[in-house]
Amino acid sequence: MSGQERAPILEALNQFKKQRVVPFDVPGHKRGKGNPELTGFLGEQCMTVDVNSMKCLDNLCHPVSVIREAEELAAEAFGAAHAFFMVNGTTSAVQSMILSAAKRGEKIILPRNVHRSVINAMILNGAIPVYVNPETNNELGISLGMSLEKVKKAVEENPEAKAILVNNPTYYGVCSNIRKIAKLAHDNGMLLLADEAHGTHFYFGENLPVPAMRAGADMASVSMHKSGGSLTQSSFLLAGERVNPDYIRQVINLTQTTSGSYLLLSSLDISRKNLALHGKDIFSRVCDMAEYARYEINQIGDYYAYSKEIINGDSIYDFDVTKLSIHTLNVGLAGIEVYDILRDDYDIQVEFGDLGNILAYVSVGDRIRDIERLVSALSEIRRRFKRDKTGLMKQEYLSPQVVITPQKAFYSEKVSLPLKESEGHVCSEFVMCYPPGIPILAPGERITRQILDYIEYAKEKGCSLTGAEDMNTERLNIVKEY
Ligand SMILES: Cc1ncc(COP(=O)(O)O)c(C=O)c1O
Repeated sequence: MSGQERAPILEALNQFKKQRVVPFDVPGHKRGKGNPELTGFLGEQCMTVDVNSMKCLDNLCHPVSVIREAEELAAEAFGAAHAFFMVNGTTSAVQSMILSAAKRGEKIILPRNVHRSVINAMILNGAIPVYVNPETNNELGISLGMSLEKVKKAVEENPEAKAILVNNPTYYGVCSNIRKIAKLAHDNGMLLLADEAHGTHFYFGENLPVPAMRAGADMASVSMHKSGGSLTQSSFLLAGERVNPDYIRQVINLTQTTSGSYLLLSSLDISRKNLALHGKDIFSRVCDMAEYARYEINQIGDYYAYSKEIINGDSIYDFDVTKLSIHTLNVGLAGIEVYDILRDDYDIQVEFGDLGNILAYVSVGDRIRDIERLVSALSEIRRRFKRDKTGLMKQEYLSPQVVITPQKAFYSEKVSLPLKESEGHVCSEFVMCYPPGIPILAPGERITRQILDYIEYAKEKGCSLTGAEDMNTERLNIVKEY
């Protein structure tokens, strides 16, 4: 790859700073002078490049110069035909991917353990989800990837579907057989879309699962801000040869801001350069740290930090070893309880805790001494809190009963009912623990006793439940006519 040492947006901003341009445009803080407290907090360096689009800096909605060059370099680094800089999170990348792949009444085949942004997109465009229930690992209580046979069946039963969507990987690090699923999609005239919010490093590291674009995906949503080191909210949407990039840009512009932040854009540009030049070494270190942490945690006893040994050739086709996913139930504590103790008693913030697991995100910014702290805190937690695990619920995959499309349910006439009285009705909103943001209920799905028990238990254990109009999730909006 040539030219990866360049960072066109960074270079343009540096040039711009030298020019001392007098700002009679927005933002109104005028390089920070109009807001001294904010400037004191964020620093002058930051405020002087918080600027709006202009001739020398290009325009995110219609890139023709430096943003375009930066996008081309990103496409090359990721092995994609096109890359789009996204400033509204991977949520906006996922939404643009789905909005450009299907429209109202058209089907998309997908696993149900998707992030809320995927189903949100279907509320926006009226597409119909065809869920492939993910397999589950009963010991760990986590949902896995999609089995190839189940995807084949869904394709046979829905030959008119427009696309198949794959998590590459899941939050826990599990990958489906994306190469085979991509081939299956293409053989049947469908697109292959990948939610790669947790897979940026696959493109740069060695001995990691195959990245989506290399596996033949047509579009992939990549959270550069997660494992790639850029600023929060900055992401890439990657596209292959089969899709029309100009149409995708139009779709992106349906919801994208017209004031793209140069802080975010430059962070994407600089991080892409960093990973293209040094990614191999960076992720080799990350893998070593995660491997070391796993070994030490498994020595403590009762915790299970899992890795490639759970691979089963199908629904766990591969595993991302940078993900430090730890099963906690044998300590007698729910994942969310360990998450809370780590935060409250040890000042350690992990990515999430669910009913049976925690996920510690290991990345480019970690040091071995931070890993040591995590290991010793987990060891102490076991010593202080270990108890009988009777009565602890496992994270379960609750197979949804889809009654109507997410769009129809969300926009239908609704009634608000206390949780207990909502059983049997069709939900018109989301309920999920955040993170990981995988819906327990999505609009259009039947509310069952099992789901209500699960919600009550998650609340009792301290999970942060989100999605419902009622912020305390004591009431649910249901569809009036069902
Ligand atoms: C699998 C998955 N997809 C998409 C997203 C959305 O990413 P963002 O928070 O950058 O909008 C997330 C966020 O955690 C996620 O976990």
